[in-house]
Amino acid sequence: MVGNMDTYMMGTLRVHRIGFGAMQLPGRGVMGPPRDHDEAIAVLRRAVELGVDHIDTAEYYGIGVSNGLIREALHPYPENLVIVSKVGAFRDDKGGWLPGQRPDQLRSGVEDNLRTLGVDQLGAVNLRLTDHPQAGEERVALEDQLAEMVALRDEGKIAGIGISTADRAQVQQAIDQAGIVCVQNAFSLVDQSDADVLDLCHDRGIAYVPYFPLGSAFPNTPKVTDNAAVRAVADRIGATSAQVGLAWLLAHRDNILLIPGTSSVAHLEQNMAVGGVSLSPADIAELEAGVQS
Ligand SMILES: NC(=O)c1ccc[n+]([C@@H]2O[C@H](COP(=O)([O-])OP(=O)(O)OC[C@H]3O[C@@H](n4cnc5c(N)ncnc54)[C@H](OP(=O)(O)O)[C@@H]3O)[C@@H](O)[C@H]2O)c1
Repeated sequence: MVGNMDTYMMGTLRVHRIGFGAMQLPGRGVMGPPRDHDEAIAVLRRAVELGVDHIDTAEYYGIGVSNGLIREALHPYPENLVIVSKVGAFRDDKGGWLPGQRPDQLRSGVEDNLRTLGVDQLGAVNLRLTDHPQAGEERVALEDQLAEMVALRDEGKIAGIGISTADRAQVQQAIDQAGIVCVQNAFSLVDQSDADVLDLCHDRGIAYVPYFPLGSAFPNTPKVTDNAAVRAVADRIGATSAQVGLAWLLAHRDNILLIPGTSSVAHLEQNMAVGGVSLSPADIAELEAGVQS
């Protein structure tokens, strides 16, 4: 069983394995103010109260909404709080997701995060890759993107560099060129297609921070909580389906750090209690067989 206070290193920073993802805090479509502002503030304060010392965010969640809520709820920040953000994308007025991979865009992305969060340095920043340059724009070489991230780290604006939505070759390049501290890719019990990158990170002692650990809030992605095997195990052991999905991740590899996203204090409390959920080898075998069938 993984205790709530178990930790893993993100570069030089030690964080609890159960953290929090701030993407569910803004309004519908990750745009605009939250449906319930007070609940969003309560989620953030309760997360820290329950031991969260790793919050994942982005300036483009909202736009600026997640960062603003984090600052409002938690500033001045606890000394041990590691805030991780990401750059490489931005949003248009209608909430469309656009790539922003040019070095000047990566730099202004980091600077926007520093300003809206009210910090001098970010714990880590993920370079979020996209494979669709905007019309009329050249694809930006990964080497040039990583070089800008290294420059930002050398200047002290970020403590560690991460990479996100990257394949194995891109992760290897980032390890070699930039000495990354974390990888953020989609991975969950019901979507294990990124297992090769997880294994690479595990071998190299790099934190692997799965996004969509429950299958996301987006329609058309498989949901961990809808899976019949997950429900059966949850019923048998007296846990919720979300807890079973998160407990499987914690048990799967010790370099996995959780950042489940929620806009609800009740769900947050459930997710934080996953440290008390114990899966037996038979439960794990049943889950893994169940998601393949
Ligand atoms: N690097 C990237 O490109 C990238 C991409 C996507 C996300 N991320 C990060 O990864 C984090 C996690 O991903 P995500 O938030 O998209 O998806 P997720 O954590 O897989 O799922 C979030 C969804 O699960 C629901 N949920 C959470 N806890 C629950 C519980 N205990 N019981 C039932 N439902 C529950 C949430 O609804 P409620 O709000 O109702 O609880 C929401 O609909 C994000 O918050 C963000 O920080 C990074």
